[in-house]
Formats: sequence, structure tokens, C-alpha cells
Amino acid sequence: SPKVTLRRLRELADAETPIVMVTAYDFVSGRVAERAGVDIVLVGDSGAQVVLGYPDTTSITLDEMLTLAKAVRRAVRTPLLLCDLPFGSTELSDEQAVATSVRFVHEAGAEAVKIEGANPARLSRVRAIVDAGIPVVGHVGLTPQTATALGGLRAQGRTAEDAIRVARDALAVQAAGAFALVIEAVPADVVHEIRRALDIPVIGIGAGAADGQVLVQHDLLGITEGRPPVFVKRYAAVGEAMVEGVEAYAREVRESTFPAADHVYPASPEVAAAVRD
Ligand code: KIV
Ligand code: NA
Repeated sequence: SPKVTLRRLRELADAETPIVMVTAYDFVSGRVAERAGVDIVLVGDSGAQVVLGYPDTTSITLDEMLTLAKAVRRAVRTPLLLCDLPFGSTELSDEQAVATSVRFVHEAGAEAVKIEGANPARLSRVRAIVDAGIPVVGHVGLTPQTATALGGLRAQGRTAEDAIRVARDALAVQAAGAFALVIEAVPADVVHEIRRALDIPVIGIGAGAADGQVLVQHDLLGITEGRPPVFVKRYAAVGEAMVEGVEAYAREVRESTFPAADHVYPASPEVAAAVRD
């Protein structure tokens, strides 16, 4: 299939063909996304928890994100490669945000970057990055990097006042130049109204029907431990399969049934004799 470009995403949205986005954090998950034929691969800062074991997304550093992104880049050809700008890499100034985005393009081959929030400083960052020629995806509703200020990891836009705030945020991010918008954890009927007011495609997570959907790959595959958020659907039980595989290996090693004849190099009696002598 042909390389996914911004233009292709626009065509999908215009044709009302939902856009498929999934996260990846390394070569393996990047290959899975590529082979599954998704449209956009997001190197999410959710990698903080999912693959680095941190308690929240604010813990992951720019250098760590770049390492993950570079591994994904080596795996992904056809989908658009989108990278999250992590906490701490854009807060100081527009210049810092542009320099960070350039690093994602130069060092990790990012084709677009995603930045959370819509306050005046965030909007200024979006404009600056777009002005530098790097396509930007916005992210409103639940924005995990500032979840503490939002009252924790909880749904947004559940009162009229807050729904209007999310709608204003969405319109402002579009006006600042974003080519698409992630909306996270907002009631579906509120998202429906926001979409009517927007021209750019909305990629939802916990947001009901939208122009596209995004999920954390390890959540949908059932690799992450514990109960995922309500908006996650588990399409496979890969975590259980992985543990069962390693358990079977451990059992066979302890029973001395592995390695069997199939898994050893052919005998070389003369060589062994030479070693013995
Ligand atoms: O980091 C992430 O995984 C994300 C998606 C859930 C949108 O930002
Ligand atoms: Na993220």
C-alpha cells in the first residue's frame, strides 16, 4: 500500500473512512503496526508507563522518547510516523519547542509531532512548530501531561461549562495550524458537536465516533497488566500468551527436556575428541 501522507489522511477524512492510529515504542511494536496496515503510528509518551515502567507520562525524558522513536522509525515505512513531544521539552519557549521538534525530525525521522493542550503558550508552540514547517497534531480533552491540574486521569467535558472549554480548545488548536486533533476522554455527544465545528480530522480515544481512533497498542493486545480504562477494547490476550511461553520454557529447562536433539548442532566426534585430549 502507498505511503500515508497528510494528503492521504485528508482524503480518508473527506471520504469518511475512519483513520486508524496505534502507538508503538520499539522495533517489535513498530513492525506489528506496519504489518497490520494502520494509517498512523504514534510514538506516544504513554511509553513512559507502557515500556519504561514509570508512574506517569511526565517522567519520560526527551532523550528516552528519541530512543523509542528511532527504534520505531527502523520498523515503520508505510504509516505516517507521529511523535509525542514529552513533558519538559516544550515548556520553556517556542524556540525550545521548535528545537525539540527538529530533533524528532532529524534524529528519529518523525513526519509530524503531537503536543498537548490549548492555553496561550501551547497555541504559540503549535504556531511556531507549524511555521518551522513541521506538521502538528493537537491533543485536547484529557491531557495526561497536565492531569494533576485536571483533577487526575478522568473524563473531561462532562459539564456544559467544561464541554465549552474543550470545544474552544479544539477550535483554537485548529486555528493555530494543527492538521489533526486527538480528543481524549470526552463524552461522544460532546465530541460530535465539536466535530461539526471543526474542519480538521478528529482522532478519538475515549471520545466515541470520530474521523479516526487511537489506542495504546499494548492495551488493545492485552499486554499491559491491570484493568485498562473503560474506553480500551482488548482484541487479544498477548500478555497471557507471553507468560505461558516463558513458563513452558522454564518448565522444560528444569525438566531437562529442552534442549532436545532438534535444537543442537550436529555431533562432531573428532572435534570433541580433540577437546577431550
Ligand atoms: O501517549 C499516548 O499514547 C497518546 C495517545 C493515547 C493519544 O497520547
Ligand atoms: Na501522549
